[in-house]
Amino acid sequence: MDTISVEQFIQGIPKVELHLHIEGTFEPELMFEIAKRNNKKIEYTSVEELKKAYSFNNLQEFLDIYYAGANVLIKEQDFYDLTWAYLKKVHEQNVVHVEIFFDPQTHTDRGVNFDTVIKGIHRALVDGKKQLGISYKLIMSFLRHLDEASAFETLQHALPYKDWISAVGLDSSELGNPPSKFKRVFTKAREEGFLTVAHAGEEGPSEYIWEALDLLKVTRIDHGNRCLDDPKLVTKLADMQMPLTVCPLSNLELKVVPDLKDHPIPTMMDKNILVTVNSDDPAYFGGYMNENYLGIANALNLSKQQITTLVKNSFKASWLSDQEKEKRITQVETYFQNN
Ligand code: HPA
Ligand code: ZN
Repeated sequence: MDTISVEQFIQGIPKVELHLHIEGTFEPELMFEIAKRNNKKIEYTSVEELKKAYSFNNLQEFLDIYYAGANVLIKEQDFYDLTWAYLKKVHEQNVVHVEIFFDPQTHTDRGVNFDTVIKGIHRALVDGKKQLGISYKLIMSFLRHLDEASAFETLQHALPYKDWISAVGLDSSELGNPPSKFKRVFTKAREEGFLTVAHAGEEGPSEYIWEALDLLKVTRIDHGNRCLDDPKLVTKLADMQMPLTVCPLSNLELKVVPDLKDHPIPTMMDKNILVTVNSDDPAYFGGYMNENYLGIANALNLSKQQITTLVKNSFKASWLSDQEKEKRITQVETYFQNN
């Protein structure tokens, strides 16, 4: 029997994205288009010149460019267009469910209303469900380089939109901004009924992962690479089946790993951690979901069985209903058996 290539296998398998910053999907072409209609200046003269600037030695170098890019987003339609472009792109890649972040403070600090941001994103998500069949959850992420008072203010803005927002998260500059800095606002968010997640152990130490678990009571760890420094933590994550939303191309581009051949995903799988594959900021890191899967599959010689396990992990780690999870996991298993 003819079998399909690993690349075709990855393309065809129904996938989930659990770690994606919508501002990180801002492709240079769309950025220039929106800048023009909003009469906003971009520091670079062309798409090509802008793309050349996408070379980073660490998280902060990336964040500086990422926040600068977001500056041209002003109107509700801008946030709609950004989100819609992402959904169309991942629909082509057979992504069927997304749980995505937005960073309200990146916009409210520039004078854009919270309502403008969320209405544009939400309208695109609703259209994506209707027209593309992509189900979704939305996660509001606090910027950890700002203070907790600003996070509290942001949480206040979110309260009227509880039906649209499933969880709160924590992103931006990790080192020096531990989860403990946001303990109170995460407690309040949980009291208000939000789930919690946090970026931890991307550049920061394994202690930040412990804090995310113990103080923020997260249901997933975003990144989590540095857990491997601490055997006790590895055992805990495996025992809890605490999902890690790992981002291979992001890790490569931000020098969290020197080469995809050194990526810790196989080690995490060996240690029975519920690890998932995600794209983080695909417009900046050179690839969406398929490119992330293919990157590690090629570099680490992953089998179709291993790829299937990773995809199943993502469905397990999602906030879909148990019934929906079961249906999708059966679908993925059937796909594996037939291909
Ligand atoms: N880490 C922290 N903050 C971020 C990231 C990331 O990978 N992407 C966008 N904001
Ligand atoms: Zn991230």
